[in-house]
Amino acid sequence: MARSTESVEQNFDHNAPDFTETMRDRLADLRQKCPVMHSTAHDGFWVLSKHEDIVTALRDPGTYSSAKGIFIPRPVGQAVYGLPTESDEPDHSHYRRPLWKFLTPAAVRLYEPLVRRTVTELINEIIESGKADALEDLAKPLPAQITGQFFGYTAAEGRRIFELISTLTAESFGDKDQAREAATELLALFQRSLDEARKNPGDDVSSAIVTYDVDGRTFSDQECLGLLRSSIGGALATTVAAIGYAVYLLWKYPEQRRLLVEDPDLSSSAVEEILRMESPVYAVGRTVLQETEVDGLVIEPNERALLVYDSANYDPDAFDEPEEFRIDRPNNTHLAFGMGIHRCLGQHLARLEIRVVIEELVRRIPEYRVVGEPKFSAVAGVLTPVDLHIEFEPGERVPLPEA
Ligand code: HEM
Repeated sequence: MARSTESVEQNFDHNAPDFTETMRDRLADLRQKCPVMHSTAHDGFWVLSKHEDIVTALRDPGTYSSAKGIFIPRPVGQAVYGLPTESDEPDHSHYRRPLWKFLTPAAVRLYEPLVRRTVTELINEIIESGKADALEDLAKPLPAQITGQFFGYTAAEGRRIFELISTLTAESFGDKDQAREAATELLALFQRSLDEARKNPGDDVSSAIVTYDVDGRTFSDQECLGLLRSSIGGALATTVAAIGYAVYLLWKYPEQRRLLVEDPDLSSSAVEEILRMESPVYAVGRTVLQETEVDGLVIEPNERALLVYDSANYDPDAFDEPEEFRIDRPNNTHLAFGMGIHRCLGQHLARLEIRVVIEELVRRIPEYRVVGEPKFSAVAGVLTPVDLHIEFEPGERVPLPEA
């Protein structure tokens, strides 16, 4: 039985603080020399870096299980498992169903006027000054406001949820006490909305979750909390990161930005290319349930495998000239939203938010520059810009469109 790998590096650690600085070169090296390698970091796990191998794993959730968690290592402050993310069939289908009707393309389309109005308002706030903190002024407030409303929370609750989830994300491998405190407050807030929905069910997400019939029973409190935790948590840091990367990439590749200024119809395919080039969820974990072979190497039951989506998205066997940012790239089969049964439930909402930001940005601020040194980091499974300031010719506020 093959157990050894020609490991180019023995302790590959996707959570190391300096990982983002060298990750693309190291992953290219892995894809070429050792596409399936065993890392000794975090008690050992396999690293899959080729698009084809990762797709094969995602199409076989019976072998590659999510139920024991999708983070390697498991973050602190995670009192409940995220659902449907960290579940397998047949439970997984039940967990997805009550959320789906809120997140279909048709349901999400109804949110476009609100998203456009919110983006217009955010740009109004910065346009006269000629400078902005692209994260604090644009990338963070949009998902914070939209996600809160989407899940039926007041504006104040939405802001608090965003703060708590940000603390949890920042501290998930750091200050354990802070992470636990944030998790406790967050779950209490979710619990209140679930209790309220049980008493007075409405047409919001919490009500759909508490009233969902699972073969004659309703979900337990733990299950309801897991569903809110995963879908709201999954909606925030990821979308913030993607909007930040959109601003960054459209600055870094000015000819692509000008293409978008000339032809705004390219905005949807530009979103896909932004997500391919900088996938916020750059890697997820699975636990192997039965012996399986990948590229001649055997992975045994209970061993963990890290599926590096970022690496798949730069695989030259899957994409022509993957290092090039092309907003009109055809057949963009990126894995930024995963694939198979766990494919992102919020993908249409995320796409809508990113698309409206880039449409309004290039329409109102067609020329801008990033100032200072932008900084990036990889925190709790999310790759994200952490410092991104821009400057531009000041412009004028515009009236807000109807929402
Ligand atoms: C750019 C933004 C986003 C990115 C990059 C992203 C990425 C992902 C990825 C990669 C997965 C699959 C994880 C796996 O393979 O185990 C996923 C699952 C999920 N996402 Fe997103 N996501 C984004 C936005 C959202 C939003 C806005 C929501 C909710 C409104 C959301 C809700 C979920 C849920 C509920 C799942 C679990 C699906 C399942 O397990 O069946 N995501 N997301």
